[in-house]
Amino acid sequence: MSTNFLNQLSQIENFEEGLRFLSENAEDKIVFSTSFGIEDQVISHAVFSQKLKNVEVFTLDTGRLFPETYAVWDKTLLQYNQPIRVYYPDTEELETYVNKNGINGFYNSIELRKECCYIRKVVPLKKALKGAKIWITGLRAQQSDNRNNLEIIQWDEQYQLYKYNPLLHWTTDEVVDYLKQKGVPYNTLHDQSFISIGCAPCTRAVKEGEDFRAGRWWWENQSKKECGLHQ
Ligand code: ADX
Ligand code: SF4
Repeated sequence: MSTNFLNQLSQIENFEEGLRFLSENAEDKIVFSTSFGIEDQVISHAVFSQKLKNVEVFTLDTGRLFPETYAVWDKTLLQYNQPIRVYYPDTEELETYVNKNGINGFYNSIELRKECCYIRKVVPLKKALKGAKIWITGLRAQQSDNRNNLEIIQWDEQYQLYKYNPLLHWTTDEVVDYLKQKGVPYNTLHDQSFISIGCAPCTRAVKEGEDFRAGRWWWENQSKKECGLHQ
């Protein structure tokens, strides 16, 4: 990925144009990861409605997602009729973990929680990113202090590729307005005070005044509340 190419991309303000520029000009593999959250639905709409080639849209099915997440996944396939590739955890690794720690072992310690995230998310992510040079995400600065330090185009040391976070500086209202305006399907849990949505046993609705990620791994006070996909 040349510096000149990345400079050109960084000068495009409109995210739909940015995605189109990437799709039309990048010679390398580009992937977009969706968890079907509101930000991801904005990006999916832009990719699918512009029928962008060369952007592989994928999701990581941990096996513990909410029924509402599977429902919006299905609706998205029906609405756009374009592929969303799925990656699953390695069966043997998962069997060993669950046989040893129980089906909800992740509640017992931060280490066991991180191990579950590693098996169910990080290992499949590594498969999905194989050969990719650009990884598009729906990360937003507002989501956490940690994410506030990110850049729209960011080198990812962990996975050795560039991340493109086109909605980094969007507000929640801008995301919601976009979905409404374009008639994009969304996870109905968002109507029940869920903000950031991950696996069902590890996500709950947030109370007024709580921060964006308070509903994720809510029983942990000490951890950074990341699962290893993003540092
Ligand atoms: S997480 O690391 O805490 O789970 P979050 O839910 O905030 O991440 O989502 C941030 C971005 O990570 C999403 O916009 C999406 O690109 C990616 N992501 C998170 N979970 C998944 C998933 N299950 N499948 C694919 N991408 C995901
Ligand atoms: Fe496991 Fe919970 Fe992490 Fe999902 S969020 S992978 S269930 S620990």
